[in-house]
Amino acid sequence: MSSISPRRRKLEPLTPPPQDTPSFEKRNDAFLDQTLRPTSWDDYIGQETIKKNLHILISAAKERENPPEHILFYGPPGLGKTTLAHIIAHELGGTLRSTSGPAIERVGDLAAILTNLAPGDILFIDEIHRLSRTIEEVLYPAMESGVLNILIGKGPSARTLDLPLPPFTMIAATTRVADLSAPLRSRFSGGVYRLEFYSEENIAQIIRRSAEILGVDIEKSGVAEIAKRSRKTPRTANYLLKRARDYAQVKRVPLSDHVVSEALGMLEIDELGLTPLDRNLLLAIIDRFHGGPVGVSALAAALAEEQNTLSEVHEPFLLQLGLVERTQRGRVATRKAYAHMGREIPPNFEESFL
Ligand SMILES: Nc1ncnc2c1ncn2[C@@H]1O[C@H](COP(=O)(O)OP(=O)(O)OP(=O)(O)O)[C@@H](O)[C@H]1O
Ligand SMILES: [Mg+2]
Repeated sequence: MSSISPRRRKLEPLTPPPQDTPSFEKRNDAFLDQTLRPTSWDDYIGQETIKKNLHILISAAKERENPPEHILFYGPPGLGKTTLAHIIAHELGGTLRSTSGPAIERVGDLAAILTNLAPGDILFIDEIHRLSRTIEEVLYPAMESGVLNILIGKGPSARTLDLPLPPFTMIAATTRVADLSAPLRSRFSGGVYRLEFYSEENIAQIIRRSAEILGVDIEKSGVAEIAKRSRKTPRTANYLLKRARDYAQVKRVPLSDHVVSEALGMLEIDELGLTPLDRNLLLAIIDRFHGGPVGVSALAAALAEEQNTLSEVHEPFLLQLGLVERTQRGRVATRKAYAHMGREIPPNFEESFL
């Protein structure tokens, strides 16, 4: 139970999801997501396990003529969480109402959103980990039993009001699932799904589709070269495709593997897809912290970067490539990292993993 401000906010238009997720390509090409975002299951490449599970969930709900239960997607930026929310809404024929954790500051904000939902609407909350505990408490009964408990007034004259809500499905997304409280996580009874990094083949498929939409003529070798450097991430693949296209256009050359290498080389993206910040992070662990272990806060200070940027954007990919490992005492650089950065492996190397 919480207090509600008498002022009511109109639901339409809801605040757009914030564009401040720390990712170099998201900062530069925010609008690109919209143009290339798949709108149907057929265009949504990969993530097969998630797709199968969602298919069952949605089909069963449709048969019962009930909205599906609430769903949570988590995983690194750019892997397709928001896209899934859009496709599900489309499949259900409901309207997607988008907001985000940081946009819901007061209980009144959430109350306004919930009470303005129409039956069958899909409420999408991006960055759900940024909801305050007070807001979470109001969300629980809404998610569980479809009622909004609100406290009106103060002191002895205060009373509670239970407002029934229309049936709705909530879809939430986060890059930081560990920051979600256990009670909140357990309320996603439709499933908690982790998005995986994509295979190079799936990324190549995404690049071919995007090239077609953008009208870009690209050689097979060019697609493979972009796929290799795309951090196994669709958003990065689309971003690199556009940058390579610009380069080929200005130089008046066909988009071959060679041209892609040149274009992406200019962006300082190496053949593993590492950015200058990724490489600086590895060098900081190796040189400044003698291979680790080192905590993420010390790394952030050494690199003058935000801790969240390192742990949400850069670290998951470096872990995925096996360049960094997490030990109980912190992050360590692996043999592969030393080799990639051209550094000699120190004699007491294994000790850093203990
Ligand atoms: N499975 C996919 N198939 C094809 N394209 C995809 C797929 N997943 C994502 N994309 C492309 O990548 C872009 C980024 O995806 P999306 O915005 O859904 O990522 P996200 O996981 O929500 O990222 P963030 O955590 O930063 O919000 C989309 O606009 C879309 O073009
Ligand atoms: Mg998103």
